[in-house]
Amino acid sequence: MEITSLNKTFLELFHLLPKQAFFAPGRINLIGEHTDYNGGHVFPCAITYGTYAVARKREDQLVRLYSANFPDQGIIEFNLNELNYDKTHGWANYPKGMIRYILDAGYHIPAGFECAIQGNIPNGAGLSSSASIELLTGVMASGLFQLGIPRLDLIKIGKRVENEFIGVNSGIMDQFAIGMGKENAGILLDCQTLNYEYAPIELENHKIIIMNTNKRRELADSKYNERRSECELALSQLQQQLPIEALGQLTEQQFDEHQHLIANEIVRKRAKHAVYENVRTLKALEELKAGNLEAFGQLMNQSHISLRDDYEVTGVELDSLVEAAWNQPGVLGARMTGAGFGGCAIAIVENETVENFIENVGAAYQEKVGYAADFYVASIGDGAKEIDLEEVK
Ligand code: GLA
Repeated sequence: MEITSLNKTFLELFHLLPKQAFFAPGRINLIGEHTDYNGGHVFPCAITYGTYAVARKREDQLVRLYSANFPDQGIIEFNLNELNYDKTHGWANYPKGMIRYILDAGYHIPAGFECAIQGNIPNGAGLSSSASIELLTGVMASGLFQLGIPRLDLIKIGKRVENEFIGVNSGIMDQFAIGMGKENAGILLDCQTLNYEYAPIELENHKIIIMNTNKRRELADSKYNERRSECELALSQLQQQLPIEALGQLTEQQFDEHQHLIANEIVRKRAKHAVYENVRTLKALEELKAGNLEAFGQLMNQSHISLRDDYEVTGVELDSLVEAAWNQPGVLGARMTGAGFGGCAIAIVENETVENFIENVGAAYQEKVGYAADFYVASIGDGAKEIDLEEVK
């Protein structure tokens, strides 16, 4: 067996070779932003960047975790009967929370384990490295101990970790995309019913480019929770006259006719985004199915404008990238992706112009913001799964 670097790291740290390996991707969202917790639709896909783990069961109750992305934190160790949030455990709170809620769901984890993790998702870029670690831990625990946890349950457990263990009130999109991703397909998910369908993404003449602002997502979590409360307030005011359970149930026209019920102007804009973005997402799927990539791109652009002007989650970094992208030849559409407040944007760019695109958008960004952006070509890959030890990067 050729020993790849993560297997080697494991051997050095734990003095035995790992027995099993796992992978969980990151995700991008093509369209449908800040709609998941509003009972609307999202259209994400898993990417081939992600997080790898190699692992081995122990005889005792200890869990010992190492991340090559956080080498300074060394091996983090805890017992299966002490699964409380611990600030000093940093990144390891995600696997810890997963284990806790897997046990809580009634599964029996008979022993501890040790694992070494390494991810190639750009750090803090809003491509869901945290949901990736959650689902990675889920498939790892399930695979090491043959727990047979249904995929949707793992997805919900991941969301619970985010909401209750970490304290971010996020929706289900990230865990769903990472849990259910499929090569070369987007997932149209109805976040109210969890009904979903795969839509092939075959971009023969185009590439999806991920553009990283490299802006630290400071305060992002509190702003995120604030947007969520604003939407809840809007919903409660609309419910005075409308028998709805979520903003995602409204058509644009119904919203326009009842928006006066929302007292505060800012809150009204937030709700407008949630309603219009949901409708846009459904339209985008139709355009994609009909092969109208140009129309799909236009909807992406409108999505960004709405996130910039009504939802106000973009900021100068994302706007500079996206607006520079709009000005390039061969670009079908560009928008921020994920929660916003920094992180990444995506653009659909004609194959032949990719090189120029990166050069021009990179230069415009550097000039405006004062530091460099990073660019990656995205490939759409599978969801979280067990892999061969040899496949570990
Ligand atoms: C983050 C959250 C998701 C979703 C997006 C915005 O990625 O984790 O649940 O709300 O932001 O669309």
